[in-house]
Order: sequence, then structure tokens, then C-alpha cells
Amino acid sequence: MPYSFDTIINRHNTDSSRWDQYKLTDTLPLSVADMDFAIAPEIQDALTKRIEHGILGYTHQGLLAEKIQDYLKKEYQWSVNAEDILICNGVVPSLYMVPRSLMGPSDHAILPAPIYHHFFLAMKQANRNFSSSHLKLKNNRWTFDLGHLNSISNPNTKLLMLCNPQNPGGTAFTKEELLAIGELCVEKDYLICSDEIHAQLILDEGVKHIPIASLSSEISSRTITLMSLNKAFNFPGIGLSWCVCTNPELRKKLQQDLASQAAHPNTLAYTATTAALEKGWPWHEELIKYLRSNRDLIREWLVKNNKISWHESEATCLAWLDFSKLGWGNIHEHLIKNGLALSPGSQFGQEYSQFARLNFGVPKSTLIEALRRIEKGIDN
Ligand SMILES: Cc1ncc(COP(=O)(O)O)c(C=O)c1O
Repeated sequence: MPYSFDTIINRHNTDSSRWDQYKLTDTLPLSVADMDFAIAPEIQDALTKRIEHGILGYTHQGLLAEKIQDYLKKEYQWSVNAEDILICNGVVPSLYMVPRSLMGPSDHAILPAPIYHHFFLAMKQANRNFSSSHLKLKNNRWTFDLGHLNSISNPNTKLLMLCNPQNPGGTAFTKEELLAIGELCVEKDYLICSDEIHAQLILDEGVKHIPIASLSSEISSRTITLMSLNKAFNFPGIGLSWCVCTNPELRKKLQQDLASQAAHPNTLAYTATTAALEKGWPWHEELIKYLRSNRDLIREWLVKNNKISWHESEATCLAWLDFSKLGWGNIHEHLIKNGLALSPGSQFGQEYSQFARLNFGVPKSTLIEALRRIEKGIDN
């Protein structure tokens, strides 16, 4: 079935977080990470059918954990038990749950930087100490600096947070990189919380996402993996996610926290996730090709332009752009003056004020217009 990603869908009057931010202006918002593409028709049909039934009562998780178990095995050759999979209401709520339920008051965590802002907000909310391990550019990829990571650990360090693929940097970590991190955590006896929400947005052909917990039983037994299909199938507004935790002791603590949230699956998210698992993959294959061509278009533009530094976005629909050569001062304000809103770099860590994150999960004509507005900003 042909799928069109070129169609412009007007998102005004849908209470869209992204599009309503600048709704009274003609500012183009390529910020918050949802995409401007309609969901797969197969998922839309499943949702329509579910709504046409007329009753949207409480939904139990049915065989969802078993379906996810099969999916993890097929996609990543990762064998877990169905009971290792806890159904949750979003990856962000789980990011908040992990420090709250698995860290003691004096424990310390290490977070990568730059990082999706909810990582540090979750630590602050749980009132837990943390330090930032700055990723470094190596062969034009943002990757861990194990020397720096070691230098910021302390006797109270208990948890390492990981975002793989990385938001905002777009790195799809390699097996060697993940093994090095995993083995360090085994040696130092750290827990790992790995946010893998972007796992199904790997853009390079022949590259496969690797869940860190799939690398060995020692790594798995200290890891909580957070996953969801929301991003890859573009239904983040009706969130459903899952945690994989093969360690019964840790899992029990997470289950106690989940029980206190009295969480049950959102009915429509349950329908969408099930439909994505069963029927969504042909659409997803086309989506990845489209995102890859958008990423390549940005690369060509940046090479030609030569004023903004960047690195390869190996995964995600996000480009992490370094504007420091332009000497603009407040990057965000300057871009807004030229009609473009990106996510300000400082949202991902104070040190990154000269960066901005561009969401390229949009029709090509929108992306081309966004790049034109950056050029306008350079000319002005
Ligand atoms: C790394 C990361 N984790 C979590 C989320 C959001 O998760 P959810 O919508 O399932 O709460 C995002 C959204 O941008 C993200 O980039």
C-alpha cells in the first residue's frame, strides 16, 4: 500500500503542544518530538473500529506482555519472560518512577549530557543527587567519555541513566560502546536505566538497535529498559509504554510504585500499540526511508552552508545543530525572529545554549521552508 508522508496536515485547532506554542504567528515550530505525519492507516482503522464500538471502558493488558515478548525476541533476539515486562503509561512517567523507587535518599546517579530534559527533572523531582557525564564527539558521533564518567562517580553512585538512541544527539550506540558501558556498570555495581523509546527510529540501512540489557545476563540483571512504540508510530499523545526488568527484586519495587499509581492501560493506546505490533510494519518501513531522506537533505544543506556544525543523526527524527560559529548570542530568539522555533539547546543542559534541536519528522516542503528560514537568519 502506498503511504504518503508529503501531505501537509493542518494541526491547528487540535490542541497540539507543538503547534499551539506559536499559534498566533506564522512561526514554524520544529521543536517538540512528535511528527507531522498521519498514523498508519492500519492503526487508524483499528482505532476507528474501537471507537465505533461505543464503549471505552477500562482495559486490562490481556496478552500484550506476551506480544511484546515475541516482538523483542523477533526484533532484537532478546529473550525475556512475559512477567519481566511491566506495562506503563509512558516512558516519562517511568523515568520519574526509577529514581523514586530504586534510589535511596543519599544515592547518586550519572546522567549523560546533553539529554532529554525529563532525565534531570526526574532526579530533581525525586530529590536525588546526580552528575552529568558529557558526551564527546568522536568520529562525528556523540558518545560516552568513560574517563569523564569515571571521574564524576563517587561512593554513593548507584545508577547510570542511558538514552539509546540518544536524544538530542541522534547516536545509535554500537555493541562495543554498549558493552563498555555495561561492563563498567557490572564492575562498579551500578544499576542502569536505559530509555530506548527511539529504538525503532534507526535511520542507517543495515544498522539494528541493540538493547543494552540483551548483551549479557549480568547486564540484564541490573537494567531497567524503557520502551514504547509511540515515537516510531507517531501516537505519543495516547501513550503506552513498557519496562523490561529481569531482576525480580528490582521488579518488585517497580511494581509497588506502579500499584501506587493504580495505572491501567489507556484503552486507545492499547488498541494502537497492538495494531502497530500486528499490522504497522509496512508503514514503518516507509517512514524510516522518508526520515532518512530528510536527514540526508539536512546533511547536504549543512555541507553547502558550512556555518552550522553538525554530526550524523544515526537515529531519531532529531538534528542537533551547533550554531556557535555564527555568534548569534540567543540562538532561539534569533531563529524566532526569522520565523522558526527549534528546541533551545539549553533545554538539554545549561552548557548547550549555542545548540538547537530540529525535529525533521515533517513533510519535505516544511523542512525546506525551515532551512530557508535558518538561511534568512544567517543573512540577517
Ligand atoms: C528520550 C525520550 N524519552 C521519553 C520521551 C517521551 O516518552 P512518553 O511520551 O512515552 O512519555 C521522549 C519524547 O520526546 C524522549 O525523547
